[in-house]
Amino acid sequence: MASFGDKRDTAPPGGITRRAFLKGTGAAIAGSAVFDANLQAAVTSAEAAPNVAVAGPGQVRVLLDVNGAQRALDVAPHATLAEVLRGPLDLTGTKIGCDRGACSACTVWVDRVPVASCMMLAVDVGERKVVTIEGLARGDELHPVQSAFIAHDAIQCGFCTPGMVMSCAALVENNRNPSLEDVKAAISGHLCRCGTYPHVFAATLDAAKAVRG
Ligand code: FES
Ligand code: FES
Repeated sequence: MASFGDKRDTAPPGGITRRAFLKGTGAAIAGSAVFDANLQAAVTSAEAAPNVAVAGPGQVRVLLDVNGAQRALDVAPHATLAEVLRGPLDLTGTKIGCDRGACSACTVWVDRVPVASCMMLAVDVGERKVVTIEGLARGDELHPVQSAFIAHDAIQCGFCTPGMVMSCAALVENNRNPSLEDVKAAISGHLCRCGTYPHVFAATLDAAKAVRG
């Protein structure tokens, strides 16, 4: 019978054996070595490439066009667009949910294309024009999608709403007669824990009608 400290390769029913555990650990260590080698190769090739601009390691001066205004600021080279919007630019309408491209809460427009701003570095924006939820209305006149979200009560906690509105607004700007399937595709990357999806569908289809006039 195996006892505590027994070196034999035994495992409880459905459990993992000591041998399997050691094999898995070895594979993980080998994987880490491969990662290190790949990283070193990437650094070496970046250093060797003659025409690759290198940003950092210190703060980098960027000029961002956000909601029609030019904003010059110094940012860390690893700062995401979402972090810069919410931090130094104080545009907190853009939300950060997962910070890894999985929820779309951080969606803004970059050259009128919906983009997960947590997945774009601020230094990579360049001359492209950024529009956030704060820049969608024209003065006091809400975008038709914003009005429709209010009319259809397509908001509960509101955390996903700015990103959802940006994607739906981009849809109706590019397709004035979207189908329900088009709307579903447009927000397929957006996670709403409150389950407002049916209201968002109805609001966006109505907004498209308003845009068509
Ligand atoms: S916060 Fe950017 S995708 Fe979730
Ligand atoms: S309204 Fe709460 S997460 Fe969407």
